[in-house]
Amino acid sequence: MFITLEGIDGCGKSTQSERLSAWLTERTGHGTIRTYEPGGYPSGESLRRFILGSRDFSPMSELLLFLADRAEHVNKVIAPALEAGHNVICERWNESTLAYQSGGHRLNVEQVKSLIAACDFPEPDVKLFLDVPPEAAFTRIASRKPDKFEEEGLALMRRVSESYRELAESGYLTRIDCEGKNEDEVFAALASEINAWLSR
Ligand code: TYD
Repeated sequence: MFITLEGIDGCGKSTQSERLSAWLTERTGHGTIRTYEPGGYPSGESLRRFILGSRDFSPMSELLLFLADRAEHVNKVIAPALEAGHNVICERWNESTLAYQSGGHRLNVEQVKSLIAACDFPEPDVKLFLDVPPEAAFTRIASRKPDKFEEEGLALMRRVSESYRELAESGYLTRIDCEGKNEDEVFAALASEINAWLSR
């Protein structure tokens, strides 16, 4: 299986990815590779640092860098793992690009969709969106009073969050409502979606 986890910064993807990975191996009898974007492949750390540190890049350059990173990720990790019969759980995929570069940084959504489509990346079996209110996620990543940059961050997270919700409504991914749920409850909701796919 190929599963992607999506959501705004601080939504809890990494914790859930770790738990799901052990559970999925047990559930399917196949090994599970955990990975992430950007930079989730050998030698990917420098491109990750470059992309996430390039604050003065235009949204279009940013988009093309994320797609280049994904192409490397597919070649080096995702395709070999799936071909070898492993499950893959990946934190972030095409829907991050739609939510952040279009919803967040206001690129034209049709243009972003067509560039993604042209790349022909593997399509995940299950795409899960951890919907955490931006204010709650933001408190997790910045427990002190937000400075100016963090204020801008919250405005961005609100747009990204809205974009994810629209994508979920259009059937791009499955929304998991995490509001008021603890870690175990979120895990149960995610596992239930994966179970539904496995028993289809
Ligand atoms: P991530 O490591 O998941 O950050 P966090 O652990 O804080 O959630 O992702 C790094 C950042 O990259 C995150 O702010 C979202 C952004 N991003 C995009 O803007 N577009 C993309 O296509 C991807 C994959 C990530």
